[in-house]
Amino acid sequence: MTSTVVVGGFFGDEGKGKIISYLAIKDNPTIIVRGGAGPNAGHTIRDGDKVYKVRMLPSGFLNKNAKVMIGPGVVINPEVLKKEINDFEVSGRSFIDKHCGIIEETHLIRDSKGELKDKIGSTGSGTGPANADRAMRVLKLAKDFDSLSSIITDVPKEINTALSKNEHVLVEGTQGTFLSLWHGTYPFVTSKDVTASGICADVGLGPTKVDEVIVVFKSYVTRVGTGPLEKELSLDEAEKKGWSEFGTVTGRQRRAADFDFDLARRAIMLNGATQISITKLDVLFSDCAGKTSFAELSDDAKSFIKNIENELNTPVTIIGTGPAVNDVIDRRN
Ligand code: IMP
Ligand code: MG
Repeated sequence: MTSTVVVGGFFGDEGKGKIISYLAIKDNPTIIVRGGAGPNAGHTIRDGDKVYKVRMLPSGFLNKNAKVMIGPGVVINPEVLKKEINDFEVSGRSFIDKHCGIIEETHLIRDSKGELKDKIGSTGSGTGPANADRAMRVLKLAKDFDSLSSIITDVPKEINTALSKNEHVLVEGTQGTFLSLWHGTYPFVTSKDVTASGICADVGLGPTKVDEVIVVFKSYVTRVGTGPLEKELSLDEAEKKGWSEFGTVTGRQRRAADFDFDLARRAIMLNGATQISITKLDVLFSDCAGKTSFAELSDDAKSFIKNIENELNTPVTIIGTGPAVNDVIDRRN
């Protein structure tokens, strides 16, 4: 079996959570491991009538047979994590690495005011200040807290061992390519590299061990917080198109624009994408809602997808057609 890395191609909020929960069930990996910055990322997952909003746990937790893990590159808010483990009933199969950084009160305070909040529009989750302290070598790590000892494991070893036994591992990224500290719209970015390479480093997966990189794009672009957004629509225009969305973590209204091929092309390059996933096709073409086969799509929707494949020279394999986990067209063989 294989390792699959899933990352966001725009500014986060592409709908990765839903795609990852679909893959977690469909591909049945033994481990789903999360990289990325920290609890600044929110993923919304819908399973029947249940809606889960996760900030710390991997979005793939709906697969009850899988272990879910958080890699050493990620900073953790233990309160948020423990609440999610309890609320979503994943205790006994959730693990963190001993080198995960720990967010404390001081980080929350420093993130909720001043430059980070006012200029960068940070999520206030403490993630940026914790990563700054980590760079200064003063951040406490998971291994420094007795209360975390029962959920600590060697995450890089677990995932590499699983791969060597031919098991499938799903690696989940957070945020999106243009929020990367290296490749994004600096300074309006998050506090880590969040491209596929960065996510792999976060969990301890070497470059030669990566089989598939799926870059997720939404059918339109959104951005929450400050920073440049080419061809940004007015909130009125976005609302008319049905594109008005609100952030999972902060509740802030997301800014919106049409699908951006220049950004997408660059995201394909930076992440070394082997596949593309397009989400919320039903928001663009309402007649596609809930469809599960490509043949059933309207001609307009088909040409939208084919145009993306031609422009980006990469196959669109997984298409989201609604909020539920199984509202998906899966074109992989
Ligand atoms: P921070 O990561 O909380 O420091 O926030 C820095 C910038 O990244 C702000 O504009 C946030 O809105 C944005 N950001 C961070 N994480 C996410 C995410 O998961 N989705 C969307 N935007 C994010
Ligand atoms: Mg989000």
